[in-house]
Amino acid sequence: MTEKKRRSQHWYGKLDKDGFIHRSWMKNQGFPDHAFDGRPIIGICNTWSELTPCNSGLRVLAEAVKRGVWEAGGFPVEFPVMSLGETQMKPTAMLFRNLLAMDVEESIRAYGIDGVVLLGGCDKTTPGQLMGAASVDLPTIVVSSGPMLNGKWQGKDIGSGTDVWKFSEEVRAGEMTLADFMAAESGMSRSAGVCMTMGTASTMASLTEAMGMCLPTNAALPAVDARRTALAHLTGKRIVEMVDEDLTMSKVMTKANFENAILANAAVGGSTNAVVHLLAIAGRMEIDLTLEDFEIGGDIPLLVNCMPSGKYLMEDFCYAGGMPVVLKELGDIVRPANTVLNKDISVYSDGAECFNRDVIYPFDAPLKPAAGLRVLKGNLAPDGAIIKPSAASDHLLQHEGVAHVFETIEDLKATIDDPDLPVTADTMLVLKGAGPKGYPGMPEVGNMPIPGKLVKEGVRDMIRISDGRMSGTAFGTVVLHVSPESTAGGTLALVETGDRIRLDAKAGVLELLVDDAVLAERRAARTEPDPHYTRGYAKLYIDHVLQANKGADLDFLVGRDTRLVTRESH
Ligand code: FES
Repeated sequence: MTEKKRRSQHWYGKLDKDGFIHRSWMKNQGFPDHAFDGRPIIGICNTWSELTPCNSGLRVLAEAVKRGVWEAGGFPVEFPVMSLGETQMKPTAMLFRNLLAMDVEESIRAYGIDGVVLLGGCDKTTPGQLMGAASVDLPTIVVSSGPMLNGKWQGKDIGSGTDVWKFSEEVRAGEMTLADFMAAESGMSRSAGVCMTMGTASTMASLTEAMGMCLPTNAALPAVDARRTALAHLTGKRIVEMVDEDLTMSKVMTKANFENAILANAAVGGSTNAVVHLLAIAGRMEIDLTLEDFEIGGDIPLLVNCMPSGKYLMEDFCYAGGMPVVLKELGDIVRPANTVLNKDISVYSDGAECFNRDVIYPFDAPLKPAAGLRVLKGNLAPDGAIIKPSAASDHLLQHEGVAHVFETIEDLKATIDDPDLPVTADTMLVLKGAGPKGYPGMPEVGNMPIPGKLVKEGVRDMIRISDGRMSGTAFGTVVLHVSPESTAGGTLALVETGDRIRLDAKAGVLELLVDDAVLAERRAARTEPDPHYTRGYAKLYIDHVLQANKGADLDFLVGRDTRLVTRESH
C-alpha cells in the first residue's frame, strides 16, 4: 500500500460487506487474493469490435498490455466500450463520437481502477476515448491499433480511402472498368489495422504521439508488426509506473501539447478532422484552445510524403523512421511539454534517424512549404472554416466564382450527374445541411463528387464549400466546417445558386459577395428545416451539440469531474 489510498482501494480494500461484494464477484474469474492487495488496478478500455474492422487487432494488444501490467506488479482488467466503425456506421460515426466519450468517461468513473490504457484506432475511437478519459483525469495512456499493411493491387501500392475516391472518379469518367474497381477491394484492405493512408486514424495516432500520450513509435508501427505487440506490453508496464507517480492526464497535457499536435498535423499532412477532435479534447481538459490557434501550423512545411498529400503509405512512413523523425525535423519549433514518460517530448526524438528521405523530407528542404491547415473567416463563415492546402490545387486557392447550391445531400446525389447541370470547372459547389445539427453528426461529405459532365471533360478538382467534414484520406480544394452551419442559421443557409463567392486561402478569407440587405431579406424568408430525429440519443445530440469551431462536443460534456464516487449500490 502507498501512503495515499489508491482509488481502487475504495472498492477492493474495504473489510466490510461492500468490499466482500466487490472482491467476491471478481474472484469468479479466478483472480487470487493478492490481485486485491492494494496493487494498481489498470483498466484496459477496449474498442475491439468485428464491426470496427480497423480495431479488430485490439484483442491481441490487450493481452500484451495485461502481460506488462502483471509484470510491473499491477492487476489488469479489460472492459469494452462502444466501438465506432467509420466505414460501417450510418448516418456517420461522428454522430456517436460523443456517445463513446460518455461511455468511456462513465465506465472509468464507475469502476475501481487507478489508471487506464485506451485501446483504439479508427477515426472516432481515439478522440472519443481521449475526451472521455480527460473528463475523469486518471493516469492515462494510449495504444493505437496501428495501420494496415500497404494495399496492393495489380503490382501497385494502393491506399485506403484515397484510391477509392480516385478509382470511383475513374469509373465515372469511363477510364476504369467496374470489374477492376470491384477487384481492387480485396487488395486494399489485407490485414488488421486502420487505414494506411495519413487519414484521420493515422493522423490522430500521429498527433497522440506528438502530444506525448503514448509511447514513442506508437503511431506508425503496422498493426500486425510484432513490435506493436511489444510496445503494448511496455505500455502495460508504464501505466503501472504512471499510477505510482500519480501522473494524471492533466499533468501530461497542457496547451503546449495541443500546439505540438497542430504543428505535427501540418508536417505529416494530417486530416482536417484533427481540428474538431483536438478542440473537443481540449474542451474536456478546460484548456483554452481555439480555432485561431491552428494558424500556428499554417507556415509549417509538409515533411511526410504520404497519401492523400503525397504518394507513400503508413508502412513506408514506419520504415522511414516515423514520428520520432518528424519531431526531430521540427526541432526547436516543438514546444517543451510533458509526456506519459514524465519527461519532455524532446526525448521522443532521441536517436531518431531517417532511413528514406523520399518519405520524410528534411525541414529545410520540404515536400511543400507552408502546408498546414488554413483558417478562413468572412461573412460566409463568421465563426470560421478550414481548408487543407496540401491536399488542394494551388490554382484554386485564390478564386472568385459563381455558386451552385445543393440544399441537401439528397439534392446533390440526385443531380450531380445531370448532364444539364449548369456548372463549369470555375463554379463553386456549395452543400448545406451537413453540419453537426443538420445531418446530424457532421459527416464526411464535404469532398463532393465532381459533376459527371465535368469528370468526363477531365476535371478532377473544383472548389467545394460546406458545413460538413471530409475524410482524412480525401483530397481537393475543399472548404470545410463552415460555422455556424446552415441548420443553425449560418450565412451558408442564405447562399443561392448564382451568388458570387470569394475564396482567398492565403489571406484566410471566405466571402459571400451579396449585399447585407439582400441577405437580411433572405433570412427573414427562411424557414427552419425539420430535424431528422425527434427521440433518443440523436435528439439529445441535435439539442446540445456545439458548432465545429468549438469541437462539436455536447455542451454539457465540456470540462471535467474528477470527484471520487462515494455512494455504494448496496
Ligand atoms: Fe477505420 Fe479508416 S475506417 S481507420
